[in-house]
Amino acid sequence: MKILGIETSCDETGCSIVEDGKQILANVLFSQVCFHEKFGGVVPEIASRKHLEVINTLIDDVFEKAKIKFNEIDAIAVTQGPGLVGALLIGITTAKCFAWVLKKPLIGINHLEAHLFSIFLEQEIFFPFIGLIVSGGHTLLVYVKDFDTYEILATTVDDAAGEAYDKVAKLLELGYPGGHIVEKFAKIGNSDFVVFPQSKFKNKKLAFSFSGLKTAVSTYILKCKEKKISFKKEDVCASFQKSIINSLVKNTIESAYKYEVKNIVLSGGVACNKALQLEMTKAASLEKIKVFYPSNHLCTDNGAMIASLAYYKFKKNNSFLDFLDMNAFPDWELGD
Ligand code: KG4
Ligand code: ZN
Repeated sequence: MKILGIETSCDETGCSIVEDGKQILANVLFSQVCFHEKFGGVVPEIASRKHLEVINTLIDDVFEKAKIKFNEIDAIAVTQGPGLVGALLIGITTAKCFAWVLKKPLIGINHLEAHLFSIFLEQEIFFPFIGLIVSGGHTLLVYVKDFDTYEILATTVDDAAGEAYDKVAKLLELGYPGGHIVEKFAKIGNSDFVVFPQSKFKNKKLAFSFSGLKTAVSTYILKCKEKKISFKKEDVCASFQKSIINSLVKNTIESAYKYEVKNIVLSGGVACNKALQLEMTKAASLEKIKVFYPSNHLCTDNGAMIASLAYYKFKKNNSFLDFLDMNAFPDWELGD
């Protein structure tokens, strides 16, 4: 079964054709980063306009690369939420047009669920597993029993992990989006240079919080500037990264231990981070737990994960449940 996947939830236009949930026949992506970076974040209006400009060309491109004709696909999958409403609507309207013209089934996919299962594009993972989704807008710890059976164990009470990386990059004037730049700087910095706080919750509640950490970094930088104390950005990045990774690793290992799960799966843009992959793997190996993560281009937003999850949903339900009156769900929570 060949499925066309369309992703337009934020600032990347992604189109992909995936066969049987696994084989990527073609995967194309248009990143809008250069249009947003001067604003230090994604501008929703610009995002929608750029999706609109490129989506048709991208779809032509993906069919050409996959070497198949439009009517050879079996279904169309599209990100229905969460995300920016205008951006989502570009993808949804395009998908609807294709479904209507080609008389093919249409399926709306939750972007976070697609991240969670993106690993299946590259590896077969045994259920149950603990999934850690770490992206620009979300930080979620999920106990996954099957493709449609999972439980949210923890989320962030304030900023998402990727958001914290981006904010620290902004404070240090390193550019946008900042995750990979902070990682690069952290690699050559001293992670013990500043001891930044790690969130603690009452009654051992499992949750994430990164706004305190962000404020601590901001206060540190301000104080240094006020007192004319010089510091190396590399050291601040390394110290910040140590704190955020400790928190992600601690909560993930704790829940794997509690649920007696032997597999951990990382996903979302922050899962590209080599230090996170390494520290998680090190801590997990002490408990004889294995850690998996997709290749970088499948950690960040892409159309392949949308097409792949649609296939697994079809396999479970033996049908596609969505219709041409489908609308965007900008606030669609995982599990709703
Ligand atoms: O999953 P994603 O591509 O988009 C969302 O759904 O949000 O994640 C983007 C986020 C950004 O905040 C970006 O700074 C972060 O992932 N990111 C990283 C790295 N690469 C991307 N954060 C830390 N280290 C990285 N190497
Ligand atoms: Zn994403």
